[in-house]
Amino acid sequence: LKDGPLNGKRILVTSGPTHEPIDPVRYIANRSSGAQGAALAAALRDLGAEVVFVTGPADVPPPSGVDVVPVQSAQQMSDAVEAALPVDVGVFAAAVADWRVASASDKKLKKSRDGLPTLAFAENPDILKRVSHMTQGRPGLVVGFAAETDDVINHATAKRLRKGCDWIVANDVSPATGIMGGSENAVVLISEDGAEEWPRMGKTQVARQLADRIAAALVG
Ligand code: C5P
Repeated sequence: LKDGPLNGKRILVTSGPTHEPIDPVRYIANRSSGAQGAALAAALRDLGAEVVFVTGPADVPPPSGVDVVPVQSAQQMSDAVEAALPVDVGVFAAAVADWRVASASDKKLKKSRDGLPTLAFAENPDILKRVSHMTQGRPGLVVGFAAETDDVINHATAKRLRKGCDWIVANDVSPATGIMGGSENAVVLISEDGAEEWPRMGKTQVARQLADRIAAALVG
């Protein structure tokens, strides 16, 4: 472990998309490169934290020097998060699929035999919401993310209250921004103190500044 202000702190980071199987060869998913989550895990590691990195199938590789727990589905991510607790801080950067296919087929669906398939969905666990509402062993700081395409501050402020987390890191992912899958991010940090708009900068720099803020919050 590196020397730094987060020495002795155990921090959970979820990252990447989840894949919800339809059958053994098909899935539904949210779009997520996993870049911001990986950068954040690396920045927290660099400040000396012990990082548990629970990641869905992302485009970018996980950083070195963190405890990587690879998962596919939201249910698996939820189980991995449970197993990682207790932690001092939970950062939920994953783009978790809201629904899974209710009864995924264990055989590949055939194209013509049964006509067009109809998919029934079931709701996935809301991992961030569940951890935020823990009455025992809740992390001291719970940070959620919000991808928004309009009215970012209002939507993210409402989301913070709905989820019960301490901070929401909101970003504007409308296509014109090029943020989704790109190397830059423009975020608003929402806490009980209000909304703080950060200038557009590299995802690595967003990660460093967030890690610094997390370290400052833990010191008090
Ligand atoms: O509700 P929405 O998906 O927009 O909320 C985004 C935040 O909630 C992110 O921090 C995401 O990681 C988290 N989340 C979660 N489990 C879900 C859905 C979202 O942890 N099932």
